[in-house]
Amino acid sequence: MKVGIDKLGFYTPETYVDMTELANARGEEPAKYLVGIGQQKQAIAPVTQDVVTMAANAATQILTPADKQAIKMVLFGTESGVDNSKSTAVYLQTLLNLSADVRAVEIKQACYGATAGVQMACDYIRSHPTASVLVIGADIARYGLNTPGEVTQGAGAVAMLIKANPDLIEIESESVFHSADVMDFWRPLYRSEALVDGHYSNNVYIDFFNQTWQEFQKRTKTTINDFDAFLFHLPYTKMGLKALRTIVADDQHSQDLLTEFEAAKKFNAEVGNIYTGSLYLSLISWLVNSKTITPGKHVGFFSFGSGAQGEFFAGKVGPLKHLESLTNQVTTSLNQRQQVNIKEYESMFMDRKPFDPKDYLFDTSAEKAQFYLKGQQNNQLIYVDTKNK
Ligand code: HMG
Repeated sequence: MKVGIDKLGFYTPETYVDMTELANARGEEPAKYLVGIGQQKQAIAPVTQDVVTMAANAATQILTPADKQAIKMVLFGTESGVDNSKSTAVYLQTLLNLSADVRAVEIKQACYGATAGVQMACDYIRSHPTASVLVIGADIARYGLNTPGEVTQGAGAVAMLIKANPDLIEIESESVFHSADVMDFWRPLYRSEALVDGHYSNNVYIDFFNQTWQEFQKRTKTTINDFDAFLFHLPYTKMGLKALRTIVADDQHSQDLLTEFEAAKKFNAEVGNIYTGSLYLSLISWLVNSKTITPGKHVGFFSFGSGAQGEFFAGKVGPLKHLESLTNQVTTSLNQRQQVNIKEYESMFMDRKPFDPKDYLFDTSAEKAQFYLKGQQNNQLIYVDTKNK
């Protein structure tokens, strides 16, 4: 039985900052950010969008009433959770009006959480072929103003419907994991910005990619020539290119893989790092922008979460009936965003949910999304669905 991603939905906040403007403000050459890092725009989340609302705004793009009825699990990958105890998945279940007959949990391992969700979902569907699983990758990447990591921030959510006989991507059952306790990137409980050893984290990423890819080739008796594209977790787009360059040669097939990578990085360069969702935003980018997409194409996936966990797995492009609606949804949401200047971005960055028990209400007059966070009352977050007030 084929199992995998049937539908993909995407949401990113409606405001972004331009990387040339950020470079100028930070006294860096724009080419460093645009070429050396490979980012063009960075999504900025207003205080009224957190991972729960972004996930709901992504999932609502793809779920029909029949899809909702078939969902038996909600697996929410995030490292930007909203509560130390209650899972984002349960908030999402309510906002999406899913049935009570679901298993709803949050999964955390830095940027790897959504891949754990995808693999657990595929295993579940293999033994429950009529069910569906909703997997989310949603995060807000924050390093801090004036830090080396600032250019690699971003925000957004990808929603994936995992089913039997999927339309977009069949996920193959063989995959290779690699895990080790390393301090390349982490966020202690008392911090809202990540701590990172940036250059070390790049090395850990490349090392984990090489280890999992080598082992995958051994176990499956495949080589680079068996793949039409490689997709990567993209904390910034140059990172994936650096990894791909470690395996390509000087031949036509390698040139083709580099061309496919250009398509796969396009949307990530316009959004930034969305942590758990980044690999799947790259999948969307490849499906929408590649000139060669056809059913049956074979694609390798490298998922990475600092701390650290890596996984290499493979998939095949499906019949693609949902590609047109995916293309329309994602291009519309990227094109309708508003640019903010550096002052506005800095003030949005500093405008955080208060970390205290006081009641508060945000100014939500600028919100255009269906789901947003209105405030807090009696220590409880108040989420709004504008279509169901
Ligand atoms: P940096 O030290 O400011 O930058 O930080 P740099 O000096 O290394 O320069 C970056 C690149 O720009 C270099 O290219 C320069 O040569 C080039 P490279 O040698 O790497 O190919 N450059 C220029 N190019 C063109 N024209 C110029 C120019 N000047 C320089 N004028 C760093 C960069 C990525 C370390 C920093 O932004 C950072 O710490 N980011 C956050 C950490 C990160 O993204 N790590 C990635 C791997 S870990 C991961 O993926 C997990 C993660 O997503 C978290 C999770 O799992 O939850 C982060």
